[in-house]
Amino acid sequence: MQPEVSLGEVLLVGAGPGAADLLTLRAARAVESAGALLYDALVCDEVVALAPRGCVRIRTGKRAGEASMKQETINRLMLTLARRGLKVVRLKGGDPSVFGRGGEERAYLEAHGVAVQVIPGVTAASAAAAQFAFPLTHRAEARRLVLATARIADGALQTEGWDGMAAHDTTLALYMGRNAAGAVAERLIAEGRPADTDCLVIENAGRPNARAEPARLCGLAKAVAEMAPSGPVLLVIGTVTRQARLAATSLKAGSHSAFA
Ligand SMILES: C[S@@+](CC[C@H](N)C(=O)[O-])C[C@H]1O[C@@H](n2cnc3c(N)ncnc32)[C@H](O)[C@@H]1O
Repeated sequence: MQPEVSLGEVLLVGAGPGAADLLTLRAARAVESAGALLYDALVCDEVVALAPRGCVRIRTGKRAGEASMKQETINRLMLTLARRGLKVVRLKGGDPSVFGRGGEERAYLEAHGVAVQVIPGVTAASAAAAQFAFPLTHRAEARRLVLATARIADGALQTEGWDGMAAHDTTLALYMGRNAAGAVAERLIAEGRPADTDCLVIENAGRPNARAEPARLCGLAKAVAEMAPSGPVLLVIGTVTRQARLAATSLKAGSHSAFA
């Protein structure tokens, strides 16, 4: 049950895929007025720099060689800072509602009497589609878009429901799927998805250093391995990826940026 008195406020804000000019104006305003900023590793420095002087800045996500902060610790920090009367901005890569633990954080905060607002962000799949010029849905060809992830344990897929993604008119955007590419491809093929289905491996979508490699479903894991990505990777499986132009069409840095 939700307490009746509100004890502070937290904004769960989407920072987009890692390019400052893909931040929404509402998100930028929230960061510019933050009293405390808790941000994930995928959030770019240019966005963090929008926070005002005197704002408490806490990085919660890991970068090379560091340990990630536990979710429990992040929850408690947000609560403590909100109860001190600070405007707390919890800044997450992409959209907070897509694999961003937005639901868990909202539930925790509201259960402790803290009001929560969500400001959406550009999710990795949208950024990838825009940058490499392919659609995520396409009339008469791709009638369904599934945002999914896959969990692997002991070399086997732990997540279910792959039969529902085998239809040829489904575009599947696989988040956090780098290590699961082979197992997912194998399962989809077993469920009837053609082995020669077009796919795209996209690293650093939305950023100036983005890369995209085309692959067939049966060669997806090999394509990921050959790409040897060091940044975040999204796998897109579906015929729409045939339309991709592999040279990124990203805007030149600063050309349309509100932060130039
Ligand atoms: C914890 S999830 C967060 C997703 C995020 N909330 C969103 O909406 O994009 C992290 C995963 O999202 C994907 N991702 C996030 N940013 C990306 C980017 N710029 N390029 C490619 N994939 C990205 C990767 O699969 C990464 O492992």
